[in-house]
Amino acid sequence: MISIEQIVKGHKTAESRWARFGPYYAMFPLEFAFDVVDKYSNTGDYIIDPFAGRGSSIFASSIRGRNALGIEINPVGWLYGYVKLSPSPKTEVLCRLQEIYNNRNQYETEIKDMHEFFRLCFCDEVLKFLLSARDHLDWRNTDIDKTLMAIILIHLHGKLGEGLSNQMKMTKAMGMNYSIQWWKAHNLATPPEINPYHFINKRIVWRYEKGVISKTGNCKMILGDSVEHIPSISRYNKHKYSLLFTSPPYCSITDYHADQWLRLWLLGRVASPISSKEKHKGRFANRQEYRNLLESVFSSCVIMMKENSTVYVRTDSRQYTFETTCDVLKRYFPDYKMKITDRPVTKRTQTDVLGNTSSKKGEIDIVLTRGTMKLH
Ligand SMILES: C[S@@+](CC[C@H](N)C(=O)[O-])C[C@H]1O[C@@H](n2cnc3c(N)ncnc32)[C@H](O)[C@@H]1O
Repeated sequence: MISIEQIVKGHKTAESRWARFGPYYAMFPLEFAFDVVDKYSNTGDYIIDPFAGRGSSIFASSIRGRNALGIEINPVGWLYGYVKLSPSPKTEVLCRLQEIYNNRNQYETEIKDMHEFFRLCFCDEVLKFLLSARDHLDWRNTDIDKTLMAIILIHLHGKLGEGLSNQMKMTKAMGMNYSIQWWKAHNLATPPEINPYHFINKRIVWRYEKGVISKTGNCKMILGDSVEHIPSISRYNKHKYSLLFTSPPYCSITDYHADQWLRLWLLGRVASPISSKEKHKGRFANRQEYRNLLESVFSSCVIMMKENSTVYVRTDSRQYTFETTCDVLKRYFPDYKMKITDRPVTKRTQTDVLGNTSSKKGEIDIVLTRGTMKLH
C-alpha cells in the first residue's frame, strides 16, 4: 500500500501528481484526507462527502479501496474531483488539445471586441485558444473534454510565468476593474506572450509522467446541489455508508462562485465576478439559510448511514458556524458520541491573505461515533 508520505511529499508517484490536481479554496490538506479515511473506514466501506470541493476525500477513498460518493455544486471543484479519479488517456487528451488549438483563428475578430480585462489578462494567442476551448469542449458529457478542460482551468491564472494569464492569484480571480488598475499601476499592462499549445502540452506531459492512479474502489463525483441529490440517492441506494466525511462551506466567509468567476467564464458562464443570487452559490451570509442547508443535508444523510458509522466534519471555529454545525449534528445523530478537536491556525491562511479576517481563526473537527470503532 502506498504510504501517505509518498503521496504528500514530492512528485515521484502518480498518486502524488494527481492528488494535488486543482487549486481550490479551503481544501483539505491531503495528509488529513488520507488520515481520516485510513482511521475511520475499512477496505470496501462506503464513504460520502456532500460538500466535496476538489474531491480529496473521494480521491483518498479511491486509493485506499473504499467506495465513495462526492457531491459538489461548483463545476470547477467538481471537474477537478471527477478528472483526478480517472483522467482520460494522455494521447487522446493531447490530440484534443491540438484540435482546440487548430480552431483558434476562428476567433481573430471576436477577441478585438472583448472587455479590456481580457485583453490585458491574456495575449491574443491565448485568448483565441480559450474561446475555442470555451466553445468546443463538451466538458459536461465527454471524458476527454473534461480532462483537457480541467487541465486548462488549473493553469488559467496564476503568478506570472506559472499560468496562461498576466499576474494573478492562482486560487482566486480578482475583479475586472481592480485587476486592470493593478496591472497598469505595476507596469504590467501588456500580457505575457505565451503559446498556449506548448504551455498546456508541457503540463499534460508532466502530469502523466508517472502514470495515472491505480484506484481500487468504486468512487464517483456528482455535480449538483446536495440538498436535491441526497434525498433521492438515499431513497434508491442499496448500500449504507460507514463514514460521512466532509467540510461544509463556512457561514459568511467564502464565495466559491465569485472567487472562481474567471474559470466559470471558461466553462460558459457570463464573465462576472459578482456574487450569484442562486441558492448555495454565494457567500452563505444569511444565517437562517445557512442553518437550513446543514439541516437539509445532514438530516437526509442520516438514513444512509450504517448503524456503527462515523461522522467526521471539519469546520470553521468562528462561533456561528461552529455552534450551528454542532447543534444540527447533535439533532440528527442524537445517540452518537461527539468529540471536538480544535485545529488552531499557526501560519497565515488563504483567508487571511485575501482579506477575510476575524478575531477567532482556525478550524475545528467534530467527530461523531457510535458503536465499535476500528481497531488499530
Ligand atoms: C469547505 S469547501 C470543501 C472543500 C473540500 N473539502 C476540498 O478538500 O476541496 C465546501 C464546498 O461545499 C460546496 N457546496 C456548498 N453548498 C453546496 C451544496 N448545497 N451542495 C453541494 N456542494 C455545496 C462549495 O461549493 C464548496 O466547494
